Amino acid sequence: MSIKVLGTGAYIPEKVVTNDDLAQLVDTSDEWIMQRVGVKERHVSVNETAADMAAKAAKNALEAANLSGADIDLIVAATISGETLSPTVAGMVQKAIGATCPAFDVNSACSGFLFALDTAVSYIERGTYKSVLVIGAERLSKLVDWTDRSTCVIFGDGAGAMVVTKGDGYLASRLYTSGGDEVIEIPSFGGSSPFYKTPLKHPYIFMDGQETFKFAVNKIAEDIKYVAEQAGITLDDIDYVVTHQANIRIMDFAAKRLKMPKEKFVINIHKYGNTSSASVAIAFDELARSGKLKRGDKIAMCAFGGGLSSAACLIEW
Ligand code: UT7
Repeated sequence: MSIKVLGTGAYIPEKVVTNDDLAQLVDTSDEWIMQRVGVKERHVSVNETAADMAAKAAKNALEAANLSGADIDLIVAATISGETLSPTVAGMVQKAIGATCPAFDVNSACSGFLFALDTAVSYIERGTYKSVLVIGAERLSKLVDWTDRSTCVIFGDGAGAMVVTKGDGYLASRLYTSGGDEVIEIPSFGGSSPFYKTPLKHPYIFMDGQETFKFAVNKIAEDIKYVAEQAGITLDDIDYVVTHQANIRIMDFAAKRLKMPKEKFVINIHKYGNTSSASVAIAFDELARSGKLKRGDKIAMCAFGGGLSSAACLIEW
């Protein structure tokens, strides 16, 4: 299939919130969060929007790709936490980088970046666009209930970006949705209409942690096996796994289920927490910049979350 990665980038806001900081807000501890989730600290945006962070990650990716905004033919941004529905995060990035191309957002919660990447692949394969900027950017801190210890300790803010063009490095992919609001619900603004009588079930992010956990482990294992099979390779042929950074124990279980060495998994959850759609993009950028990747390496990426949704793809470097 038809893309190669020209450059990646990321942006993490400056403010660090440690587990000890959170223990001042809710009844929790560094020990519990490290043991049950694996987050040591997360970064929280004080005054940067998801679009601001997306633009910084995008500039970083453009620099790595040696391109300017004017070279980009399409921008697809995955987000659930833009400050406005319109302009979109992608539209704001277009302005910030001096591009003039079409730009739109996609929403598939934490799986969003891989849905956006797959969308970009389709346009490139169809021959409509040559160079596409794909972004995952989130300011989830504005959607979190900071009095709810079961969610506020998990999430963080940040953005990741990737510039892709025609190539032969997208070996297989899979998108999955099972619609419903029972397990995860992420509210949007209710408005102030006098005729609006449907109360929000959950004014902040709601998540049934254990159900999500089981779904995540099952989907990582199932989706990675699927893309490997589609690409005609074995799990041993996969050099790196970049999963959504939601819980270190999810990655542990998934590695065991797949019988893959944990060393192949890129892990940065301890630094950033769960940054939703930005998570895979940030982790991929770290891998790309680590100097470890060799031409021909195979990288499985997978994500899961609200929707419920999951997505996976296999990239050859
Ligand atoms: O990005 C979208 C995808 N999201 C995910 O993949 C998240 C998947 N789920 C998880 O990561 C985990 O389920 C959580 C981290 C959300 C929760 O961990 P858990 O091990 O499943 O905990 P639990 O909900 O079963 O709660 C166990 C105990 C409870 O206390 P009791 O009832 O046993 O007395 C909770 O009240 O831990 C308590 N608890 C906490 N204690 C200290 C829950 N949150 C905290 C906390 N600090 N922050």
